[in-house]
Amino acid sequence: MAQLQSIRGMRDLLPDESKIWARVEHAVQDTVHAFGYREIRLPVVEATALFQRSVGDTTDIVEKEMYSFDSRDGESLTLRPEGTAGCVRAALQHGLAFNRISRLWYRGPMFRYERPQKGRYRQFEQTGIEAFGIAAPALDAELIEINRCYLQKLGVAEQVRLRINSLGTPASRTLYVERLKAYLESRIDELDADSLRRLARNPLRVLDSKAVSMRKIIDEAPDIEDSLDDESRRHFQEVLKLLDVLGVDYQVDQGLVRGLDYYTHTVFEFETQLLGAQGAISGGGRYDGLVEALGGRPTPAAGFAIGMDRLVLLYKEMQGEESVSAADIIYCATADADSMGYLLHHVNRLRADLGGYQVILDTAGGKLSTQLRRADKEGATWAVIVGETERSASTLTLKPMKEVGEQQSLTYDALVARLRRVEG
Ligand code: HAM
Repeated sequence: MAQLQSIRGMRDLLPDESKIWARVEHAVQDTVHAFGYREIRLPVVEATALFQRSVGDTTDIVEKEMYSFDSRDGESLTLRPEGTAGCVRAALQHGLAFNRISRLWYRGPMFRYERPQKGRYRQFEQTGIEAFGIAAPALDAELIEINRCYLQKLGVAEQVRLRINSLGTPASRTLYVERLKAYLESRIDELDADSLRRLARNPLRVLDSKAVSMRKIIDEAPDIEDSLDDESRRHFQEVLKLLDVLGVDYQVDQGLVRGLDYYTHTVFEFETQLLGAQGAISGGGRYDGLVEALGGRPTPAAGFAIGMDRLVLLYKEMQGEESVSAADIIYCATADADSMGYLLHHVNRLRADLGGYQVILDTAGGKLSTQLRRADKEGATWAVIVGETERSASTLTLKPMKEVGEQQSLTYDALVARLRRVEG
């Protein structure tokens, strides 16, 4: 029988890889905490209708990328393709978006049935943040600043650039879509099949087309800026002004419309050239109409999500894998069954007293030489060995595993003091 494999586009992250992930996740989470955002944990499965009504019925995500299925009672459910919809749903359900300001962040797997390639997977990880109840442009600037902070922390800020645009209010956006539609219809003979389909369903999505044959047509499309009303213009100018004050580099890109339907006003993407075709590291913007569209009171909102798989790829590209140093390992062994209780007692104390170390107990047993070979394989820096002699003298033997050096017989306190000295 053929051996079972993981599903295409869904990866296992082995321990060496997850070590790097943990570092990247810490940098991101420390940043969002520092800005006062609080974690919300959301289900992976939601009602299919939630995504149809928020991301939009005619987006690529909803049309062809969702993992949807009927539950046993006939309800259509979907593995979440993104986090904003679920976060708004939860905020409404628990009163977090009504008459108050909420700053939330979440993390976890998202699912999209896309063609897998480097940086694009069918199960991928996002860290997202969403803020409810703030209409002012300062929030848009803050969201961008958060991105800059974790990128700097990880030493990759130089490799990432910010593109930004404004889609305006729902009314100005509708006006633009009409103009765009008229323009695309005037060049209908030049459109490829995919763009024809998008034109019929959702003209804004034509601007997302990556087809080379469409590039010129998209370049010559009407500028969205010309359709913005005064309020939208003011909002956008203020965001840009704040970015200037913060010293954030950006490029206004009229073609940036994002692939989800809920956006209004500011939209942005952080992008790198180092990862090939899948260069978007993080993306987001304002979505002032979504809370209301999902049944709440009108509530301004904005957020973004980081593609963690891509951020990790970029981090590795810049740092090299070896730079992530593991915690030092202390490997504890005994070949004397009667000494196991004595060893166990000390192993637990070591774990409590020596925070920076990993303390592994050899539970497989056997000859001491076999256990020390295992210690080597684990990459241990120290071995702590006990037998009858140590037990009766109330000592432990400390043996350096990576450097040449004598093993020493020490009291517990002396051993801890010795390892603390090394650690410091
Ligand atoms: P999005 O642009 O669809 O936005 O996704 C955000 C990020 O997730 C992308 O920039 C990318 O890094 C990553 N990503 C998307 N698809 C994949 C994939 N197949 N494989 C690997 N990474 C991927 C959203 O999802 C919005 N919910 C963001 C948002 C939050 N807007 C407002 N609040």
